[in-house]
Amino acid sequence: MRSSIWLAAAVGSATTLALATIEAVGNKFFTKDGAQFFIKGIAYQLVPDDPLIDTEQCTRDATLMKTLGANTLRVYHVDADGDHDGCMSAFADAGIYLMIDMDTFSTYILAENLYWNQTQLDHYSKVMDAFQGYDNLLGLFVGNEIITTNNQSLAAPFIKAAVRDLKAYRNSKGYREIPIGYSAADIAELRPMLQNYLTCGGNASENVDFFGLNSYEWCDPATYQNSGYANLQADTADFPVPIFFSETGCIKPGPRLFQDQTAIFGPEMVNDWSGAIIYEWIQEANEYGLISYGPAVAATATGENIDGGYTRKGTPTPKSPDFTNLQSQWATITPTGVAKSAYDAKSVSTRECPKSTAGGWLVDGNVALPSLGATFTGSSYSAVPSATGTGTAAEPSSTKNAVSGSREVTGMAAGLASVMIVFTFWL
Ligand SMILES: *[C@@H]1O[C@H](CO)[C@@H](O)[C@H](O)[C@H]1NC(C)=O
Ligand SMILES: *[C@@H]1O[C@H](CO)[C@@H](O)[C@H](O)[C@H]1NC(C)=O
Ligand SMILES: *[C@@H]1O[C@H](CO)[C@@H](O)[C@H](O)[C@H]1NC(C)=O
Repeated sequence: MRSSIWLAAAVGSATTLALATIEAVGNKFFTKDGAQFFIKGIAYQLVPDDPLIDTEQCTRDATLMKTLGANTLRVYHVDADGDHDGCMSAFADAGIYLMIDMDTFSTYILAENLYWNQTQLDHYSKVMDAFQGYDNLLGLFVGNEIITTNNQSLAAPFIKAAVRDLKAYRNSKGYREIPIGYSAADIAELRPMLQNYLTCGGNASENVDFFGLNSYEWCDPATYQNSGYANLQADTADFPVPIFFSETGCIKPGPRLFQDQTAIFGPEMVNDWSGAIIYEWIQEANEYGLISYGPAVAATATGENIDGGYTRKGTPTPKSPDFTNLQSQWATITPTGVAKSAYDAKSVSTRECPKSTAGGWLVDGNVALPSLGATFTGSSYSAVPSATGTGTAAEPSSTKNAVSGSREVTGMAAGLASVMIVFTFWL
């Protein structure tokens, strides 16, 4: 490893030193050289728009992340037009992969105003175009916590439609099989329906390549049994695709001990889960940070690199004891998993498409997916016998309605204050 990096640097070749690309096979991630890959990740969103265009900052952070033991970052918002070479290279040099959300503030799939159209597909595709060439791109999300209540389960076919179109786009461009998936809020009433639905029906062209769960159930001190993780595991045994925690790390009551890592990578869960992404790198108002770039300032303060009461750039200083607690947990965790050559992907189960229930999951079975350009007008989805049926999705209406929505910038599920963006647009 070291010597090959040194060699690549010595011959002064590519801007990005290659890490082995990662693929999803069965319910596991494997590097190109056949080793199973487990995520030890951090959520990384220093600024609202795109943290991956500041090479100097990425380089400083990458150095510290390496000592922390991280091998993956999740970034929620990027600017497809930005130059990402420097940051992607800095993270590759530190052995760090990236998982990136393709949606933007103006292109989220909105559960209360459902449509999936060419404008969204174009935006998501542009993000894929911008990042597909980096070997350390691990995966792409079509959405984060689009569904947060029972009745929003109607959005699920739209999530699958987005997956279908982005996978088709990826394949049409001849890109490598970059895993494309979804990051779900942890809604007890919808578990396991959503994770089953996104992997059901038997057509891989329409199913997620992985499922991420944002879960803050484990609050230290806790155990595998009393944390709720035993229930998560019960829904996940022999899952069809890789599943992992796309956000985790409860901060109440504190201090964070990150003992859930020993469960996720331990004998109960390690055969079915592919790791965890800890929320989050920067300390800000939600207080989930692992580092800070300086002391908090007044919320109204302005100045270079200051926004929302926090400095968002500079030398990262570990937050005590959280940083070292995570560091020592990860230092004891070195799962090897299974080699791809010894793994039988066919041994994982397929899932039934869940039936709808009154007041609960509202998508009845394997419904026909909305076509590109569809909006949703009904209050439930019924399975239609013909593959050409359109369910209750209709073509866009020309009626003009003002619609307001709000999304958490971070998508954090914990319900604590985080940066909220409120927007209004016309349809
Ligand atoms: C959906 O459920 C939420 C609470 O879970 C409720 O506030 C909202 O009114 C419901 N929306 C519809 C359209 O039924
Ligand atoms: C699988 O899904 C793709 C994309 O929707 C579709 O074109 C194809 O016909 C489906 N295959 C089968 C066997 O239904
Ligand atoms: C997609 O929907 C959004 C919101 O209604 C709209 O602004 C955009 O023009 C639509 N795109 C297309 C291609 O219809």
